[in-house]
Amino acid sequence: MAAIELQGVVKRFGPITAVNGLDLDVPEGICLGLLGPNGAGKSTTMRLLTGQAIADEGKLRVLGFDLPKESKPARAAMGVVPQLDNLDVDVTVEDNLAVYARLYRVADVGAAVDRALQIARLTDRRDAEVDKLSGGMRRRLLLARGLVHDPDLILLDEPTVGLDPQIRTELWTLIGDLRARGTTILMSTHYIEEAERLADEVAVMHKGRIISRGRPADLIAEHAGRQTAEVYAPPQRLAELRTAAEAAGLRVRPAGPAIAIVGSERADNGVIPEDAVVRAATLEDVFVLLTGEEAE
Ligand SMILES: Nc1ncnc2c1ncn2[C@@H]1O[C@H](COP(=O)(O)OP(=O)(O)O)[C@@H](O)[C@H]1O
Ligand SMILES: [Mg+2]
Repeated sequence: MAAIELQGVVKRFGPITAVNGLDLDVPEGICLGLLGPNGAGKSTTMRLLTGQAIADEGKLRVLGFDLPKESKPARAAMGVVPQLDNLDVDVTVEDNLAVYARLYRVADVGAAVDRALQIARLTDRRDAEVDKLSGGMRRRLLLARGLVHDPDLILLDEPTVGLDPQIRTELWTLIGDLRARGTTILMSTHYIEEAERLADEVAVMHKGRIISRGRPADLIAEHAGRQTAEVYAPPQRLAELRTAAEAAGLRVRPAGPAIAIVGSERADNGVIPEDAVVRAATLEDVFVLLTGEEAE
């Protein structure tokens, strides 16, 4: 049984179709990265999975429960980590976790709290008040709180958006630990590096549906090839190079002030200029080619 099975899911908000015929299955034990630009429909998908929004069409099954009919037991079996910090700042780290453990009717609250503290590497801060914690510790506590009932599935909606790089790295370590334990994770992100580092498989979401899916290395091989040549030059010359490369059957994407000629290993002599910087193809190349959006 897959942890998540979505078929033909549609969610509209008035004239906007946020999710537009979404098919997605997440097998047990993997970390699936839902990678898409802002507005792709990632958060709406997450809200459908938690029962905070009801689909207009399609079939949704989560951990064997049919949504929306069985959203209550489904919700109890999954862990959700919110994007915004809504910790209780007046009580200790430990009490924040204990309240949730009781809410989820965990049998042994003490053991559940200990386990969550350990995963979040906060055991030595258990008696600290939340407002005495660093930003990174707070984010780790938020994650721990979502894990306190030992869920079979964890939903992470843009877990590091807007965080400073050091905190992001701390969270990546923890998410990597969860992944190594075999917890099923659905993580949405618009950060390519986040998907590339943490996800076993990436589903690229654009305009409410999945446009490509696979292991990062396979997506790169399929859509980009082996190498990408970046050229920095004045706009006029870039335009000429682009035309020549496209005429030679190569795909070209903008890359900030440069252009990136994708699949440059297939280029005939003379198409890639001498001053190009040739590098290995990346998931960013794939993302930009597929979505037409510049990466962040
Ligand atoms: N409650 C809502 N009411 C109206 N439009 C919404 C609502 N939630 C999301 N949308 C729209 O649906 C689209 C997808 O949004 P969202 O799922 O938040 O995308 P993402 O999380 O990938 O950035 C966007 O165009 C957004 O403006
Ligand atoms: Mg979102």
